[in-house]
Amino acid sequence: MNCNAPIGVFDSGVGGLTVAREIMRQLPDERMVYFGDTARLPYGTKSKATVIRYSLQIVRFLKTKGVKAIVVACNTATAQALEEIQAEVDIPVLGVIGAAAKVASAVTKNGRIGVVGTTGTIESGMYTKALKSFDPNVQVYGKACPLLVSLVEEQWLHDWVTEEVVARYMKDLEYKSIDTLILGCTHYPLLRSVFRKVAGEDVVLVNPAYETARELGQLLEEHRLRCDSDVESAGTKYEFFVSDAAEKFCDFANSILPYDIEQVQQINIEGYD
Ligand code: DGL
Repeated sequence: MNCNAPIGVFDSGVGGLTVAREIMRQLPDERMVYFGDTARLPYGTKSKATVIRYSLQIVRFLKTKGVKAIVVACNTATAQALEEIQAEVDIPVLGVIGAAAKVASAVTKNGRIGVVGTTGTIESGMYTKALKSFDPNVQVYGKACPLLVSLVEEQWLHDWVTEEVVARYMKDLEYKSIDTLILGCTHYPLLRSVFRKVAGEDVVLVNPAYETARELGQLLEEHRLRCDSDVESAGTKYEFFVSDAAEKFCDFANSILPYDIEQVQQINIEGYD
């Protein structure tokens, strides 16, 4: 495997850019091909079978780009399709749940952990499974917060309406005495300050995007896959692909990434069956 090949990163749309952003920050010498399935989002309300089908098409597309590893930068796709994706390719595949669960189970003091995410992620029980694999004694309290994805995509990040909605969802976790909360959806790290305000200073917030980028660095080291040449000369540094109109994606990306995206290509992802 060519260690100067890009990392393939995908999500149902723009949310995975929070993971891409962390990879850019923590692994600035790595190249990346990002795919956002903007035509078929959201994944959070779709069935497992559909999320698996979409994910495998994307993985087949990423393979055509010669990627050296794949990051499933979507909590829902990780929860519903990680095993199937791993069976499809012979390169390292990393989801966003494992690293976050590992950190959460290590930092909790009272063993009571909250997880917020899409309906698909929470109902899959994958965070609970992962957390219990690190510590079978932890108590896990999941809460689906389906309205938050739309609020983030409207860029209502510091709006009282968003605060109200977060508070309403968090009410269900109020009497659970959690001391750790996993922001288990790609969009929620952008609402970190709102969750901080609602959950209070004493609750540790775990950001899967940050933890996954850290784990990716370790994984690349282990497989001797760290880019070892001048990244600019190895090929295009960052490439972005979507399945629907690129303009909205570009606007969102440019509002959160540390640099301006110049080009986003639209492709027919249904052709990768
Ligand atoms: N990217 C999804 C996740 O992290 C949220 C958006 C969606 O439902 O597609 O679960």
